Amino acid sequence: MDIKQEWKEKGYVDEAVDGSLDLKAEIRRLCREKNAVILAHYYTVGDIQDVADFVGDSLALARKAAETDARVMVMCGVHFMAETCKLLSPEKTVLCPDLTAGCSLADSCRAEDLRRFKEEHPGYQVVSYVNTTAAVKALTDCVVTSGNAKRVIDSFPADAKIIFGPDRNLGNYINSVTGRDMLLWNGGCHVHEKFSVDEIVKLRRLHPHAVVMAHLECRGPVLDLADVKGSTAAMLDYAQAHPEVGEYIVATEAGILHELQRSCPAARFHPVPPEVSEGGLGCSCNECEYMKKNTLRKVYLTLKYGWPAVEVDPAIAADAVKPIERMLEL
Ligand code: 13P
Ligand code: SF4
Repeated sequence: MDIKQEWKEKGYVDEAVDGSLDLKAEIRRLCREKNAVILAHYYTVGDIQDVADFVGDSLALARKAAETDARVMVMCGVHFMAETCKLLSPEKTVLCPDLTAGCSLADSCRAEDLRRFKEEHPGYQVVSYVNTTAAVKALTDCVVTSGNAKRVIDSFPADAKIIFGPDRNLGNYINSVTGRDMLLWNGGCHVHEKFSVDEIVKLRRLHPHAVVMAHLECRGPVLDLADVKGSTAAMLDYAQAHPEVGEYIVATEAGILHELQRSCPAARFHPVPPEVSEGGLGCSCNECEYMKKNTLRKVYLTLKYGWPAVEVDPAIAADAVKPIERMLEL
């Protein structure tokens, strides 16, 4: 098979790169040449965060995508994040270093299942987490991120009937802090579902003064142990605002440690390990293999070839952008 055809089917550009090339310098040169910006999520590898124009959580990345003047965006994250950029800036080219970088949470809600569920529940409005496909967003009234979910739900009338999906952990948490009784979709993130309560208890014993931080996608028993519960940006904000705290126990994807350590060099951060699988050895941190599909080499090749680019079916895009814009207005 023709090599380019093979790459196309794999969803990324792959070719050997001269080992003597300074990839970061080449990436910056290509960005200038092509009027491109690199947006990266906190879960990508440190090298990508270091070369990016902007690093953020899902909410900040969506805002940045809506306001950038650049002609090209390279979204280093996962597929739904690149789709969100394309929906907000359809006239721009949105490159994705690896189109196969998916998301288990987005996969846990298929548009055809949500459509059926809506038909079974007339009178309900749908609030969807940003970790969803464009087709699911097209069936949604308002999008939320972990950074603004409570604020957005608080803006709905007290008697509003709401279907919330796909993350049941985030939904349960929002129900508990708003006193709502939203109907929850039964989805979850395979990374955040795995954090071990026992390991947090052990780490706490070893580091009694540490503050425990957990992402809202974690299970209830993990959130119950956390002093700080929120999005990736909320964890960073907390650590930056509390220089007196010397130690943290962190229950979210391990990529966040790069920015935590960079912005708070005096503090120590202990990642929470996942549950040990039966017969397995376990590992000391918990990574999202989809986020880790982004590599410097793929970013370089993506910029060099201007491919692969994310496209959204215009018939879906027209409806999918509305709930994102509603969120950004709120
Ligand atoms: P944030 O919105 O906190 O960046 O989270 C995105 C995500 O995918 C968490 O797993
Ligand atoms: Fe999706 Fe989970 Fe990876 Fe976040 S960590 S991108 S929710 S699979």
